[in-house]
Amino acid sequence: MASILGFGGYAPERVMTNDDWAALIDTSDEWITTRTGIKKRHFASDDEATVDLAGKASLVALEDAGLTSEDIDEIIVATDTPEAYTPDTASFLQHYLGCREVPAYDLGGSGCAGFVQALDVARARLLLEPKRILVVGVELISRLMSWEDRSFCVLFGDAAGAVVVARDGGAAELVHVVAGTDGSQTDILTLKTGGTRHPFNAESLASGAFNHLDMDGKRVFREAVHRMSQAVVDVTGHIGKGVADVDLVIPHQANKRIIDAVQQKMGVDDSRVFVNVHDYGNTGSATVPFALWEALGKGRISEGDLVVLTAFGAGFHWAAAALQF
Ligand code: ACO
Repeated sequence: MASILGFGGYAPERVMTNDDWAALIDTSDEWITTRTGIKKRHFASDDEATVDLAGKASLVALEDAGLTSEDIDEIIVATDTPEAYTPDTASFLQHYLGCREVPAYDLGGSGCAGFVQALDVARARLLLEPKRILVVGVELISRLMSWEDRSFCVLFGDAAGAVVVARDGGAAELVHVVAGTDGSQTDILTLKTGGTRHPFNAESLASGAFNHLDMDGKRVFREAVHRMSQAVVDVTGHIGKGVADVDLVIPHQANKRIIDAVQQKMGVDDSRVFVNVHDYGNTGSATVPFALWEALGKGRISEGDLVVLTAFGAGFHWAAAALQF
């Protein structure tokens, strides 16, 4: 009932290496590499904003699908770093691409799980009507994060990934999606300031709280490993398969140690896991669609393969999708 017609991705040209960070703040290539596996990340240029990244990835996905922007019937954008506070990035993207006056909306705030959740929404929308839905995961984190907080700034990068989903006719069937939320853990990964509980004001500006991400790294690590691996078990179980049947797992690329722990827990070797966090860092809701696009480009996926996307993000949210190529 849901099929992916085209895949796209975009990473900005500007590259920031670990050594570039070490020239700016008290860190080192050795610290970043051993803790995260990240060697470099891409940052948007000064004249790029979120919609530019989303638009460039979308154009690649449209071309891959053999479609134009006129063919799109709905747009869903997953992002935590939107073009503006309001309206949503999807509105900007509809205009950027020159789409018809179709429904367009964001899934915001679900962190790095946003894109897989958006796939689930697209799948449900297709039950109602045959449509071509553009689903985008995009983050431009470098513009909004603190460049002085060494615990966070070295982890992130900017990128976008996109797919076009329809009822049928594509290279990959979207067979099933599982998703869940544990809202008792909102405190372990949160950017509090700017909402109604902690509005942006002179005090938060002076203290630096306005762009400070609260993160309990060790708890995030544990939850991420548990939820991402369980989601793979759940989504494959639902379609009568097991982890042993999966040809490629594409996990959220937060850091290599989390991915290694997920792999170990599932008993999956390196040949069945796609990793690109060393080149791009954590690009939030863009990591999964961007990695999917890159995995295809690198010939890591063949016809007949069962591919599972698995992600977790602030909330805590988690989601996994099974794709049959
Ligand atoms: N360079 C050098 N030293 C640093 C840096 C840095 N960039 N950042 C922190 N440190 C220091 C700290 O100040 C601390 O020093 P101290 O012992 O003198 O106080 C020391 O390194 C250890 O700090 P920790 O925060 O305990 O480092 P840890 O080993 O836990 O690694 C990390 C941090 C990589 C974030 C880890 O907690 C982790 O992998 N967490 C998982 C969560 C994650 O990856 N989150 C990212 C996004 S979340 C998402 O995608 C949904």
